[in-house]
Amino acid sequence: MHQGRTTLSKFLIQQLKGSPEQNDLAALLVDIAACIKAISAMTSKGMLGDVLGSLDTTNVQGETQKKLDVLSNVAFINTFSMGGLVAGLASEEVDDPQEIDPRDGSGRFLAIFDPLDGSSNIDVNVSVGSIFSILRAPEGRTPTLDDYLRPGSVQLAAGYAIYGPATMMVITVGKGTHGFTLDREVGNFILTHPHIEIPADTSEFAINASNERFWEPPVQRYVTECKAGKNDVRGRDFNMRWIASMVAEVHRILMRGGVFMYPRDMKDPSKAGRLRLMYEANPMTMVVEQAGGLGSTGRSRILDISPEEIHQRVPVILGSRNEVERIERYHRDYDSGADQRYTSPLFQERSLFAN
Ligand code: F6P
Repeated sequence: MHQGRTTLSKFLIQQLKGSPEQNDLAALLVDIAACIKAISAMTSKGMLGDVLGSLDTTNVQGETQKKLDVLSNVAFINTFSMGGLVAGLASEEVDDPQEIDPRDGSGRFLAIFDPLDGSSNIDVNVSVGSIFSILRAPEGRTPTLDDYLRPGSVQLAAGYAIYGPATMMVITVGKGTHGFTLDREVGNFILTHPHIEIPADTSEFAINASNERFWEPPVQRYVTECKAGKNDVRGRDFNMRWIASMVAEVHRILMRGGVFMYPRDMKDPSKAGRLRLMYEANPMTMVVEQAGGLGSTGRSRILDISPEEIHQRVPVILGSRNEVERIERYHRDYDSGADQRYTSPLFQERSLFAN
């Protein structure tokens, strides 16, 4: 055992000392860490653990549930139900928010989570993750839907776990973004990445390029310029990455910079985007902003959106500050008519994309 290693518990005691709310928040994050260790143990067993494959059920999004989606969801629900710190929860895998049994629920917090993000990767042994967002619960009454539907800027804490070659937990309580690596033999999360800072500039972008024909012109412009490389307006070459796991994508950006996009597109015009605001975009944006990056829809800051429903979708552009600002500028240029170059016939009807 190395001397001087900072465990997650010690770190939280130091960061959150003071009010009873802060003490409880520290305790809640320790509970979440225990849940993440359990999910990490399940995911790492792979085929040996009888946890791979799909079930016959679908979630509220109409997506087929994987066994691990359901097992991870149960792990989170049990953690919050038994911990006595949470008054209600909402999950990607549950249609409506659930009140925690009042016998346990003197809790000060609401927990919103995606128990297993990127689950199309499970069966092929590629990194997946869990994402969580913590809000303040109302005092002295049962939470209502409106208590959950609050902008991401009021989150008390947010974070994710990545189940990769190493399991890591990355968290923020609004005092920077910090990364912890699971020491599997000892069972502790150890502070390995204090005060993560995303470089403001990058030469790496991540987007599902098979959707290119459905993108809006500002996104087409950005990606076209990146691909054109050093002899064009960007003056340098770019790399593209796509893991199809938002957690893995954002984690890479926290480690070395980059920009991640799942923008608004025309593939299914009834959807504002693919990713979900409350348990994907909001917590990941808080983590990214606390590391010096930005999170935007292209037209507004993600954390300023007033949610209308728990499973609301939203366009997401996340990462290195100067790149996100550039993409926002391209949206403004397009919306104001200042840039006509990327107006394809698909996009001539602006009302299709009206906010
Ligand atoms: O549900 C979210 C998610 O799995 C993200 O983790 C990931 O970024 C995205 O969907 C992958 O989308 P696609 O299947 O279009 O590549």
